Formats: sequence, structure tokens, C-alpha cells
Amino acid sequence: MSEAPALLFVCLGNICRSPLAEAAFRREAHLQGLAAIADSAGTGNWHVGEPPDQRACAIARAKGISIDDRRARQISREDYRRFTHIFALDEDNLNAIFSCAPSDSSAHISLLLDWVPGREGQPVVDPYFGDEAGFEVTWRDVSEAARSLVERLARS
Ligand code: 4NP
Repeated sequence: MSEAPALLFVCLGNICRSPLAEAAFRREAHLQGLAAIADSAGTGNWHVGEPPDQRACAIARAKGISIDDRRARQISREDYRRFTHIFALDEDNLNAIFSCAPSDSSAHISLLLDWVPGREGQPVVDPYFGDEAGFEVTWRDVSEAARSLVERLARS
């Protein structure tokens, strides 16, 4: 790949799933020596400016990563040109990302788990209205996606 890939992970609120996806990807890219830019955003604006959900911070901390300093933001028109890849955490957000895409979007837009063999079409389930156990599932899913992404990007 000629330029470093720039990846944007997008969920609804940018306080649970996408900050964890970004964190898992950053760690995996670092471990594998892949140069890449990573960020996250939400399709909604309810939590803009807020830190991640404390349960997301706690699971990241338990894995040795701090996401406490992140602040939620909403996806913007510029993101569609700044990022080479935009990953939706579920189908609703994938549809929202497509429907907001400007005509000059250059990003490759896809569902995150489409990159994991055998998990194509599956969502990273929203853990917001559940308990802590849901965040373990989120971490497992985004970590699996991070490993697949880094492997595939390193080969391209
Ligand atoms: P996220 O989770 O999209 O993974 O950040 C959610 C956060 C907030 C809400 C829904 C999902 N909410 O309805 O406020």
C-alpha cells in the first residue's frame, strides 16, 4: 500500500464500541509494526464531547489500555476524504454512513465484521443498554476484527 491506511471506526454514540475498536486496532497495529492512522466517531450527536462510557474505559483498562482521554465526536463530511477506510460497527450505522456520504467520498466503507472470515454480515452488538458482560463481548469482537484488519492491511 503506497500511503499509510487511515481507518475510522463508527458506531452510534462513539462512547462504547468504536472507541474500543480504535483502541484494539491501535494496539494490534503497533504489535505487528503496521503504520496506520486510526480514529473513531459516532453517527449520532448525543454524546459529542463526552468521554467513553465508564464500562468501556474499564474493559480497556483491564486489557492494559487507557481510552479515558478520548472525547466523542460525530462523523463529518471531511472524514469521507481523510480516511481510506470507514468501518461501521453494525448495519444501522453502515446505512447511516452511506446515506450521509458526500458525492466526493473516497473512503472504502464496510461493515467491520465483514473483515473477519466466518463473521461476514454480523454486527458488533450495542452493549450500551446491557451490563458489563456485554462489554467483554464487544472487546472480543473488536479484537478479532483488529487482528484480521492488521493482517489484511499488512498484505495489501
Ligand atoms: P455506542 O453505544 O454506539 O457503541 O457508542 C451507544 C451509546 C449511546 C447510545 C446508544 C448506543 N444512546 O442511545 O445514547
